[in-house]
Amino acid sequence: MNLLPASLLLPQQTVAAEGAALRLTALAAEFGPRGVLVHGRSLQRTGLLDAILDEPPFGMRVRAWCHAGAEPTVDAVDALRADLKADRPDWVAAVGGGSVIDLAKAAAGLLDAPQSAAFYQTHNAEIPPAALPLIAAPTTAGTGSEATVVAVLTDPSRTLKQSIRHPTYLPRLVILDPCLLRSCPPATRAAAGLDAFVQAFESFTSRHATPFTRALSELAVTRLARALLPFYEGDSDAAGEMLEASYLAGVALSHARLGVIHGLAHPLGARFHAAHGLVCACCLPACLAFNRDVVARDLDALHARHGLDVESQVTAWMTAMKLENPFAGQRLADREALIRETLASGSTAANPRPVTADDVSALLNAILA
Ligand SMILES: [Fe+2]
Repeated sequence: MNLLPASLLLPQQTVAAEGAALRLTALAAEFGPRGVLVHGRSLQRTGLLDAILDEPPFGMRVRAWCHAGAEPTVDAVDALRADLKADRPDWVAAVGGGSVIDLAKAAAGLLDAPQSAAFYQTHNAEIPPAALPLIAAPTTAGTGSEATVVAVLTDPSRTLKQSIRHPTYLPRLVILDPCLLRSCPPATRAAAGLDAFVQAFESFTSRHATPFTRALSELAVTRLARALLPFYEGDSDAAGEMLEASYLAGVALSHARLGVIHGLAHPLGARFHAAHGLVCACCLPACLAFNRDVVARDLDALHARHGLDVESQVTAWMTAMKLENPFAGQRLADREALIRETLASGSTAANPRPVTADDVSALLNAILA
């Protein structure tokens, strides 16, 4: 077996240091003097936006674009594309959670594409290369989007949550600054951390995993197991560990893909509007039972090397972080469509055990029980 993925794509530069976000405009200067910084509302509220944009290098002009919504919609992507097209900046920076990074990634990526974002989300059409360099500085830990070629988009008009991807969508510069996580609210710390953990685990057991990606996934899953609860409880030292681990999980999943948990989590999330990481955590027990025979050696390895039992860990976090299962007692109006979307997912295709329509139906019964 080859050690490396067939094509290894890593961010050109990753700066991991306390306070590095305040050097964003200086670090971005190599891409040109005109930039757009995409952010969420909390960056403005905490004063961090002003601090980052304060005193840019001589000759630089950086303007801000606020993403006021939650998950990035295809319409929000098209609105940002139109704005970027109007003045053609030299670079785009995303300082925010996975939603902000995916929004900026898709808008910068599709800048000169002839069709709408919704078209590329569903038509399997060839996506042109990204037209603008992207800088990513996550404020949650995290989706790992700063280290992936993927942008997950929603289309509320079609109850659709589906990703677009292109090798050129990888951010050129990543800034991992624990300072950016300080104002992250506990509920977001919990949900984003659960997402990172499930991503690290699913990329570890993916049928496309290589020794290289498995090493990163294992580092990430064990680091997240150690750091998530202290981070949730406000331990500032754990913030840097969470950032590094979710970044490593992002590198791993960008190459190895994921599994049926994520295959289910996107269509379920589009219907139930619960936090993505929470959806993943609540899908884990049923999916792990489904995969258990195939991944037994991986589970044994995590237990033998790190004392980690994945399912018990997630259950313990759900209790400790007072999280409730968003599916308890819920009914599905369009089960067949959800099964189709799950089977069409690249994550489902990467699951270590092949997944049929009957399997998805049985998993839904277990998850919604
Ligand atoms: Fe995820």
